[in-house]
Amino acid sequence: MVLLTGSRKIKCAVFISGTGSNLESLIHFAKKKNSPISIELIISDNPKAKGLKFGKIFKIPNKVFNYKNKIIAEKKIISEIKNKNIKLICLAGFMKILSKDFIKSFKDKILNIHPSLLPKYKGLNTHHRAILNSEKYTGCTVHFVNYRLDSGKIILQKKVKISKYDTAKSLEKKVLIQEHKLYPKAIRKIFSL
Ligand code: GRF
Repeated sequence: MVLLTGSRKIKCAVFISGTGSNLESLIHFAKKKNSPISIELIISDNPKAKGLKFGKIFKIPNKVFNYKNKIIAEKKIISEIKNKNIKLICLAGFMKILSKDFIKSFKDKILNIHPSLLPKYKGLNTHHRAILNSEKYTGCTVHFVNYRLDSGKIILQKKVKISKYDTAKSLEKKVLIQEHKLYPKAIRKIFSL
């Protein structure tokens, strides 16, 4: 594995829309000496995203883009990312679907974390649907982003057992704990090739 230190770390932007617990775990990961990434920018479509506080706490610039006009918002994001020489985008609870043109501009450089064992339960309300279907296991997946929703190449997955007492809320909590470990692990995996 190639160890990247200081300025040789891969510059990364994290996109969020909500709580930002995955963002927080990625920030702690990036701070490790032997982490392959540094987080240079936090992007959100939601000015009220709770996760924006991590930008202030950890002194990482954050930018909120108005998505009333998606084409304009994406153009601005692309120029911001290129200016900062960002080479990796980590989606972490970002609730907007990226356009084909955006994905094309950063081919194979966009990752996402999804709260299910893909290809099962793409889209929203994954825990609720897994429980309704009496699944014994669910989990989380880190994958590359391609043109189809939650369908890009899988990097890593982690299984989580569903107990008969689980609700969508309790399952969300259990899965999130695993997400926080899986995202850094997946990033290590792609940069250790
Ligand atoms: C996570 O469950 C993630 O898998 C999904 O959105 C949620 C974001 O949670 N894409 P958080 O904002 O990182 O706490």
